[in-house]
Amino acid sequence: MSPRYKINFNALILLVVLQGAAVVLFCSWYVHFSPCETEPPRGKVHVLLLSSWRSGSSFLGQVFSQHPSVFYLMEPAWHVWTKLEKPGARLLRMAVRDLMRSVFQCDFSVMDSYLPENYNMSSLFMWTQSRALCSPPACYVTQRGQFSNETQCLKNCDSQGLDKVQAACNTYSHVVLKEVRFFELESLYPLLQDPNLDLRIIHLVRDPRAVMKSREASPKAFLRDSAIVLEQKDIPAAEVSYKVLQEICRSHIRINERAIVKPPPFLKGRYKMVRYEDLARNPLKEVSDIYDFVGLEMSNQMGEWIYKKTHGKGKGTKKEAFQITSRNAADVSQAWRTVLPYSKVKRVQEMCKGAMKLLGYKTVDSEKEQKRLDIDLLVPREPFQFSWIPAKTEQADKI
Ligand SMILES: *[C@@H]1O[C@H](CO)[C@@H](O)[C@H](O)[C@H]1NC(C)=O
Ligand SMILES: *[C@@H]1O[C@H](CO)[C@@H](O)[C@H](O)[C@H]1NC(C)=O
Repeated sequence: MSPRYKINFNALILLVVLQGAAVVLFCSWYVHFSPCETEPPRGKVHVLLLSSWRSGSSFLGQVFSQHPSVFYLMEPAWHVWTKLEKPGARLLRMAVRDLMRSVFQCDFSVMDSYLPENYNMSSLFMWTQSRALCSPPACYVTQRGQFSNETQCLKNCDSQGLDKVQAACNTYSHVVLKEVRFFELESLYPLLQDPNLDLRIIHLVRDPRAVMKSREASPKAFLRDSAIVLEQKDIPAAEVSYKVLQEICRSHIRINERAIVKPPPFLKGRYKMVRYEDLARNPLKEVSDIYDFVGLEMSNQMGEWIYKKTHGKGKGTKKEAFQITSRNAADVSQAWRTVLPYSKVKRVQEMCKGAMKLLGYKTVDSEKEQKRLDIDLLVPREPFQFSWIPAKTEQADKI
């Protein structure tokens, strides 16, 4: 053995020892500083679009549904609410929560309790609203990356059982569920803390006076839901709408209290409130912010689609009344001012005073003020976020 070789051999041992030490040091540094232990599992993001009846959630739902990375389902809780005879919202809360947990994880066996015998994909409530159910692998009518057509989907896309629904769900990075049937956040805490979920909540709210006007356009549509919201209490027919609105307004206060004023640590960065009126006035910017919040890309194609949907021509058809269409972006959010009698406006304002202040909707003090459309009743968002919790502006900034 030459001396030279021997030196190299010693050097090699030294190197191995040094490298070992480096690995040990690096590992402890890595374990110490890496976010791995607290990070949710790679991949899926779960989004709850939490809203209320007639608040623009169908449109925002479509903004998710048509996105190529999203598996969207509208109102799975509808099945829970319609299955039992005369239930109350409180009784159904946990069943709805647990159903959502399973569906977020693409486990559709949970639907078995709520669907008719021999159910099919078409047994799911408003299933054609889900672009993913019209695309592979659920169906081959709409290529992924293209926009779906409800008529074509309805005609060509049914299948037996929910196997294909489940298979489709598994292929997307985002699962988005829209619900109008939550009135608080507490029942969702276990989902927010579940290490298998990465839940983000988009809370869509709307001026209660506009909601009142929209509900009055189709009073029969809400009979069953209203009875559930009001816990089947015996309330005079003329009072039902006001009482339901009052419950909705209370829920806005309750949810904001939990999510913004004193959020538990697991809610930080997972809650975003969106006002319908901001969405109507500036759809592209609002949707971009929402996409950012849940980690979705805004493509040119989506941008064009959103523009088209919000800048259509003239008055929409009856069906389109659910969507924010055309010039009505401004019109729709103001329509109540010319249509509702001041007496009703006054009553809604009394019922919803606290919520309106919190959300930045100015009240009117006379019929004259109500009808003067040049008076803007929407408090701009930035200052209003500031003023509503002056002591905690840092928190407000983060949201
Ligand atoms: C599901 O589809 C099958 C045939 O594909 C049909 O016989 C059955 O009635 C459907 N079930 C429901 C609940 O629509
Ligand atoms: C959807 O498809 C139907 C039938 O093929 C067609 O008549 C209709 O124009 C389509 N709608 C849209 C919005 O493309």
